[in-house]
Amino acid sequence: GESHSLPLHKSFANLSEDGNFHISESEKKEPTISITVVGASGDLAKKKIFPALFALFYEDWLPQHFTIFGYARSKLTDEELRNMISQTLTCRIDKRENCSDKMDQFLQRCFFHSGLYNSEDNFSELDQKLKEKEVGRVSNRLFYLSIPPNIFVDAVRCASRCASSPAGWTRVIVEKPFGRDSESSGELTRCLKQYLTEDQIFRIDHYLGKELVENLSVLRFSNLVFEPLWSRQYIRNVQLIFSEDFGTEGRGGYFDNYGIIRDIMQNHLLQILALFAMETPVSLDGEDIRNEKVKVLRSMRVLQCDDVITGQYKGHKKGDRVYPAYTDDPTVPKDSLTATFAAAALFIDNARWDGVPFLMKAGKALHTRRAEIRVQFRHVPGNLYKKNFGCDLDQATNELVIRVQPDEAIYLKVNNKVPGLGMRLDRSNLNLLYSARYPREIPDAYERLLLDAIAGERRLFIRSDELDAAWSIFTPVLKELEGKKIAPELYPYGSRGPVGAHYLAAKHNVRWG
Ligand code: NDP
Ligand code: BG6
Repeated sequence: GESHSLPLHKSFANLSEDGNFHISESEKKEPTISITVVGASGDLAKKKIFPALFALFYEDWLPQHFTIFGYARSKLTDEELRNMISQTLTCRIDKRENCSDKMDQFLQRCFFHSGLYNSEDNFSELDQKLKEKEVGRVSNRLFYLSIPPNIFVDAVRCASRCASSPAGWTRVIVEKPFGRDSESSGELTRCLKQYLTEDQIFRIDHYLGKELVENLSVLRFSNLVFEPLWSRQYIRNVQLIFSEDFGTEGRGGYFDNYGIIRDIMQNHLLQILALFAMETPVSLDGEDIRNEKVKVLRSMRVLQCDDVITGQYKGHKKGDRVYPAYTDDPTVPKDSLTATFAAAALFIDNARWDGVPFLMKAGKALHTRRAEIRVQFRHVPGNLYKKNFGCDLDQATNELVIRVQPDEAIYLKVNNKVPGLGMRLDRSNLNLLYSARYPREIPDAYERLLLDAIAGERRLFIRSDELDAAWSIFTPVLKELEGKKIAPELYPYGSRGPVGAHYLAAKHNVRWG
């Protein structure tokens, strides 16, 4: 059951090579943690989870006693797992002297067990192996489900019945997709709750682990200059933009069943929106923050079909390069209507945000990779300097941009006098560029999230009522688009996306930033 949070030891003075040695009774009192990556042979495990665990180890953030297990059907030996994951480990600051020592120490703590995701016997074998490594200490167990969604529930059933911690806590990190609409998401929640309490379920939205998303609340609630402006009174519109300059290469099979609205908007962008727009929480406690997020999500208007436009990328040739169409992917049906781009206008029907359009735009295979929040402010009433602008006043309003990635930055567009004898105004940036101000590399989102799950900090994980509220906003429109087989507007790979996005914005008096 759920008990205490694990203290994070930052000392490795007594680092043990592996768990197979005798320890004294007093040492047994020190807890240990076993982290099992279920689906360890997969893409996400290799790309994100093992590297994040190593980065935490490297920076001395992991508890002193820990063991990592990979679990999958693939038949790997411990050594083969170590070889596989060592290919993607990097030291945060390259070429530090102790980097390869640290890697070796880390890899010695990694083991593998091969088994089926629906076999209680195989999970009982895992349990035995975990016990061996835990050498009689109180053990806490964290399972990271990095597997396709159709086997989530089987794996949770087996893990909870056969490999739960006997005396410490057991927690399960679940990766999206959490269903594909309100019904299937509700069903998944019900099934998971047959085996786990809500407290044990850590639903990941890795955007919540990104540095600038984490900073949103700091920016709002600890600076006097922003919060008073944070409402319909001063904000004209808010834009949440996600774009990638590559297609669904390699993940077409997964993607075709979901589409961009479920892949990015319903989770990543909506989570950012909730943090942006929520009221001040009672405290920084995870439940207080999640309460506010649920409230603002529940105040949102259900998205209407005429407030959404969708697109799909098509192939083309530029010079020697051939850019594939979405439907060129052999795992995607030739006649697929799945959206790889969407734009939507959302509204929050509460006192603070009444009438302010929140525009979302998300797309794959566009001209650039970026994720940002753009806040466009209203006109200065009766602006004295109307005449002195080189552009129309509409383009001279203040804009706050929070660039989540790449080149993390926060900048505010202000009007400024061009130095010289005349009186000409232009727009300049007050610019907080992270790379200039904070030279230290920013940790990957998965590092923060894993650390929080280990510490039992739930602030950055999605609670089930939050998930329900999020699906309620998008489910009707998804059903309508799919039911009516609405064809997405085609846009060339590498372009700025379909023009429909501009019409949608114009309908709400918005110009994309
Ligand atoms: P993979 O498709 O790579 O699957 C992970 C592992 O699960 C595989 O190595 C395989 O292991 C096992 N597996 C795959 N298909 C099946 C199947 N049909 N039946 C049983 N086992 C299967 O997934 P990813 O690593 O890409 O993703 C894992 C989870 O994370 C998914 O829920 C995904 O939606 C989510 N996610 C992934 C992201 C990414 O960038 N990859 C980003 C965000 C979320 P074996 O055959 O050895 O058992
Ligand atoms: C995932 C989506 O959740 O986020 C992917 O499934 C997308 O389609 C990815 O590429 C983007 O994450 P990041 O951290 O690279 O911006």
